[in-house]
Amino acid sequence: MKFFVDTANLDQIKEAQALGILDGVTTNPSLMAMEGIIGEANIKEHYKAICELVDGDISAEVIATDYESMIEEGQELADLHENIVVKVPMTIDGIKAIRWFTDNGIKTNCTLVFSAGQAILAAKAGATYLSPFIGRVDDMNWDGIELIAQIADIYTIQGFSTQILAASIRNPLHIVRAAEAGADVCTCPLSSILGLAKHPLTDIGLAKFLADHKKANG
Ligand code: E4P
Repeated sequence: MKFFVDTANLDQIKEAQALGILDGVTTNPSLMAMEGIIGEANIKEHYKAICELVDGDISAEVIATDYESMIEEGQELADLHENIVVKVPMTIDGIKAIRWFTDNGIKTNCTLVFSAGQAILAAKAGATYLSPFIGRVDDMNWDGIELIAQIADIYTIQGFSTQILAASIRNPLHIVRAAEAGADVCTCPLSSILGLAKHPLTDIGLAKFLADHKKANG
């Protein structure tokens, strides 16, 4: 399973990259705004800066909502760097745009996915990645992991090559369960990635090993 970090914060991206386990980055307009990246030129420069930090797929989301404008904006984003993946919302215009990008050799990430039906449509359009939003599904009293498992089953049965990118991850357990359910990629906040390493028995065990070593060696 690939690991992407879900942030537009350059320090967090650097920290995730330093772990040596990072395969890419996802951003969205909310995450860009959170970092104070405003205006088309600044946003494009920021994407380029992320591409300089990480040698992997970097999702850059279109703001346009109609087909023609999505194509125009997506092409501009794809031209920024060879690792840019154009992130397109799951709408009818979005599906048409994904088909166009696929036919023109541009990678896509179909975002805002909440059902298996949407997952089938995106795969048929040739999306490179599909982003089901686990945390937001959980917020609606359903189980986001069940959605991942359902999509994984369908993609296997049907032989779809679209990669399932578990998004809206809120904690380390989401990552473990998404891996178990068949996600190809998890995009996570840095805190959830770091949280995977934590276990109190590891801390207790290490403290004892060090104490015993000190007792024996002075
Ligand atoms: C990533 O591609 C998504 O935009 C992101 O994971 C959404 O996360 P949120 O539901 O925490 O905003």
